[in-house]
Amino acid sequence: MATNFAFWLKPNRPDAPSLLRELAAVTDQSKLKDYQGYFHYADNSGIPFLSFTAPLDGHDVSLTLDLTAGTIAYRRQHGGGRKQHIAKACGLKHNWNPSILDATAGLGRDAAELRSLGCSIRMIERSPFVASLLDDAIERAKQADEALFKQQFSLSQGQSTQLIQSLSQEQQPDIIYLDPMFPPKSKSAAVKKDMRLVKLLVGTDPDADELLPTALAHAKYRVVVKRPSYAPFLNDQKPSMSIESKGNRFDVYVLSSPEL
Ligand SMILES: C[S@@+](CC[C@H](N)C(=O)[O-])C[C@H]1O[C@@H](n2cnc3c(N)ncnc32)[C@H](O)[C@@H]1O
Repeated sequence: MATNFAFWLKPNRPDAPSLLRELAAVTDQSKLKDYQGYFHYADNSGIPFLSFTAPLDGHDVSLTLDLTAGTIAYRRQHGGGRKQHIAKACGLKHNWNPSILDATAGLGRDAAELRSLGCSIRMIERSPFVASLLDDAIERAKQADEALFKQQFSLSQGQSTQLIQSLSQEQQPDIIYLDPMFPPKSKSAAVKKDMRLVKLLVGTDPDADELLPTALAHAKYRVVVKRPSYAPFLNDQKPSMSIESKGNRFDVYVLSSPEL
C-alpha cells in the first residue's frame, strides 16, 4: 500500500522512534496537510506519548494507545473475567494460564485483556506504524502497571508467517491467536474511528488466510481466530467449534488438550 505519512518533529519532544525513522521529519506544522497523516509526540502531564493523526470525514482524528485506561481498562474491570467469550475460546481454566502468541497484535486490546486474565503474551505486528504506537503504549503500561505489563508481555515487529516458523521448540506457544483485518459490512459510522485509522495505516490483510496453516502447524494446544460474525471461516477451514460474541465470532481449532 502506498503511504504518505510524516513525523512532526516538535521542539523539546523526542525524535521519531526507530521504526518511523524513514518518514519525512516535518518541523513546520503548516506542511503537515501535504501528507495523508502524521505521527507526533503529544504530551500528557509531562509524559510524551506517540499519536497518529489523520483527517476522517473532514476532521482531524488522533489515535493513541493506552493499555491501562479507557476501553481496555473498562473491559478488564467489568468484562466478566474468565466467563468472557475470549477466555472460553482460549480454554482458560483456574489452573491453566497458557502462553499465547498474538500473531496479529494491532492495537493490543485483546492481548492486554488476555494478559489481565493471567496468560503470558507475546505479540507480533507487521506494520511498523501500528507496532510503533503499540510499543509506545507498552512502555507506558510498564510504568503504570508493573505487575501486569513489566513481564510476560512483549512485542516483535515482523511478518508472523515467518517469525512463527523460526520459533524454537522451547518457544512454542500453547495458543496462537489471530484477528486479521476483515472488510466491514458497510461504511457505517459504527465502524469505530480507531479501526478506520488502523485500516489507513495497514490496509486490508489480503494474505490473512496464510496465517491459519502456519498457526496450526506451530501451536501446541489450539488456534483461536476472531472474526466478524458475517465473515467466512479463515482459509475456508471449519473450526472444531465457534463461540458467538456480540458482532464477533471466535473460531477455535483444537489440536490437543493440556494435561491439568
Ligand atoms: C484487526 S487488527 C488486530 C486487532 C487486535 N486484535 C486488537 O485487539 O487490537 C489486525 C492487525 O494484524 C496485523 N497483521 C495482519 N497480518 C499479519 C501478519 N501476517 N503478521 C503480522 N501482523 C499481521 C495488521 O497489521 C493489523 O494491525
